[in-house]
Parts: sequence; structure tokens; C-alpha cells
Amino acid sequence: MKPLNKIIYIEASPRKERSHSIALATQFLAGIQTANPDVEIDRMDLWATDLPAFNGALIDAKYALLNGEDPTSDQARAWKSVTQVIDRIADADLIVISTPMWNFGVPYVLKHLIDIIAQPGYTYQPRADAPYENWGLLSGKSAVVITARGGTVAPGSGVEDWDFQARYLDYALKFVGVQDVTQVAVELTAVDKDNLPDRQAAAAQTLSEVAAQLTNKSAASAAA
Ligand SMILES: Cc1cc2nc3c(=O)[nH]c(=O)nc-3n(C[C@H](O)[C@H](O)[C@H](O)COP(=O)(O)O)c2cc1C
Repeated sequence: MKPLNKIIYIEASPRKERSHSIALATQFLAGIQTANPDVEIDRMDLWATDLPAFNGALIDAKYALLNGEDPTSDQARAWKSVTQVIDRIADADLIVISTPMWNFGVPYVLKHLIDIIAQPGYTYQPRADAPYENWGLLSGKSAVVITARGGTVAPGSGVEDWDFQARYLDYALKFVGVQDVTQVAVELTAVDKDNLPDRQAAAAQTLSEVAAQLTNKSAASAAA
């Protein structure tokens, strides 16, 4: 891991002050900031970020550039809106994502972001001689994914196969080259409110340990 200078924090719940994933992420980031006062945090609230529609015009722009053709001025402008988002992510040493589970996957705003940033030549390079996990270009970064679920897909639940949230994010991050991915979940937010404070406290405790480990790794790599 590189020294921790910049974090991109990607927020996918629209529920803000009622959100369990945001509450945990806010606490985690505050802990990181206390231990690393100079760290810069770039917050990307996906419900307030105007991501470009990944439509036919944008795909035409992408292929014009990939084929070495001169893009039209409209295409160049459209493509710039993609590379600006990629640059924000590429600039960070640590990617923090907080997200709910929606219909066993992630909210569409987060899928939209992934479709914007997964671009050949920018965040991954197709290779015939290597599996997908070796295609990524965003190397040297870590990611922390904080998830909230109304129900459960935890190991032992018997419904692990229904998880298209944590597993998808793990693969999506690895695909673009982020190999060091830590996931922390708070589950049963909708159906077992009595024990929720205990589960929230357990997730917060795990995250404070993750923050301490990242701080130590950052200090070690700054000293190296
Ligand atoms: C549109 C929608 C779909 C949902 N789908 C699921 C689901 O598939 N599985 C699940 O466990 N919870 C599901 N939930 C419940 C949320 O995951 C739960 O409320 C969680 O705490 C939301 O995260 P947040 O508190 O950070 O917003 C869904 C909630 C909404 C609004």
C-alpha cells in the first residue's frame, strides 16, 4: 500500500442520516482522519454526482479513441466526463465505498459508477494470456467496502448464493486492479432491530481495527 494521502469516499445510500452504511463509514473516516490528520477525503455522494449517461454517444466516443480516430468535439467532451471520474478514483490511495444491498445487488447509482470507470486502457487492459483478476491497472490501492443489508447472506445463513452485492464489489474492484479489499457488513437492519445496536457496535469495532491497520501500513510505506 502507498502512504495514505488521499481517500475517495463513494456513498451509495440515499437515506443519509437514517443510513446504516453511511453511519459506519462516517465513523470509520473520522477515525482515519484523526490518525492521519493530513489525509484528504474526496466525498463522492452518488446521489448528488452528475455521472454521464453511459449511452451510445459515449460508447461511440470510446471506440473512436480506441481505434485512434479523431473524436468529434461532442465525443471528446463526452469522453472527458468519463476520464474526470476515473481520475478522481485513480488519484486516491484508498477507496472507501458505503452501500446498501438493494435487490441482492447494489443501488443503480453504484452500478452506473462502475460502468463509467471500467474502461480498457484506463482501468484495465485486456490480455489473452491472463485471467480477469490480472487485467487491472489501478494497482497499489486498498479498498474498504461497508455494506448494510435488511436481511442476511452471511456465511452459514444458507442463502450465501443470493449475495450479488459484496461478491460483485469484490470482483469489480479486483477487475480494475484493486487487490486489497476489506469488507465489513451490518446485517438484519430491517428485521432484527432489538439486536441491531450490538451488530452496529461489532461492525464499528472491526472498522476501527481496519483503520488502525491501514494507518500502520501507511506509516510503514512512508518510512520505507
Ligand atoms: C430498493 C430496496 C431494495 C432492498 N433489497 C434488499 C435485499 O435484496 N436484501 C436485503 O437484505 N435488504 C434489502 N433492502 C434493505 C436494505 O438493504 C437495508 O434497509 C439497509 O439497511 C439499507 O442500507 P442503508 O441503511 O445504508 O441505506 C432493500 C431496501 C431497498 C430500499
